[in-house]
Amino acid sequence: MDKNHISKAVINRLPRYYRYLGDLLEKDVVRISSKELSERMKVTASQIRQDLNNFGGFGQQGYGYNVEYLHTEIGKILGLDKKYNIIIIGAGNLGQALANYSDFERRGFYIRNIFDINPRLVGLSIRGKEIKYIDELEDYIKMNQVDIAALTLPKAKAPQIASNLARWGIKGIWNFAPTDLHLSEDVIVENVHLAESLMKLSYKLSEKRNPVDN
Ligand code: NAI
Repeated sequence: MDKNHISKAVINRLPRYYRYLGDLLEKDVVRISSKELSERMKVTASQIRQDLNNFGGFGQQGYGYNVEYLHTEIGKILGLDKKYNIIIIGAGNLGQALANYSDFERRGFYIRNIFDINPRLVGLSIRGKEIKYIDELEDYIKMNQVDIAALTLPKAKAPQIASNLARWGIKGIWNFAPTDLHLSEDVIVENVHLAESLMKLSYKLSEKRNPVDN
């Protein structure tokens, strides 16, 4: 199976399948039909079948899906059968909030270190990790396996740090800074912009208040 041919829309839906199946597993549900899964997830059963057919199906006629198997297989497709070492660049409000969130570890994402330029922050500890000075970043990356760097520093500083990170071999960037990063194709950038999500919410709210006349 060539993962490159799977559409972005399908990939975007997989984490949600994974979460629902995880919830079912916690309730000791052993199997589920695509109809039941579709009712819970509010996605059509045919959409679910189509999505999962991209990866070879997983379902059995008359049985439905084995929840644990499907959860494991989707986890593998998402790469969640591996562990990822994450560093955070920028130990301000957002960087500290991410570093304080322990639940990422349940999915295999380990925040190993956090870097900042502010001497007043360097040396402070967040969940047992001491904030390091940004000048130590290059050596740290050379001496440790780092899979993902989260950028939680001001937008004006993000492009330069990102290009350094790429030069030092980082292949995954979790970008929270509100700016587009232009890096070589072998670096994967995942942008997270809460403000854009809020704008979509605001659009939907204003659409409700002022419905467009047909
Ligand atoms: P903050 O000002 O609390 O933290 C920024 C930190 O970056 C500071 O501790 C500062 O010392 C550090 N920093 C500055 N230059 C640096 C450098 N060259 N190297 C290392 N560290 C450096 O800001 P906050 O609220 O934590 O926001 C951080 C970034 O995240 C901003 O770009 C902000 O726009 C963005 N943001 C994005 C959100 C999203 O949904 N994507 C939500 C909230 C903030």
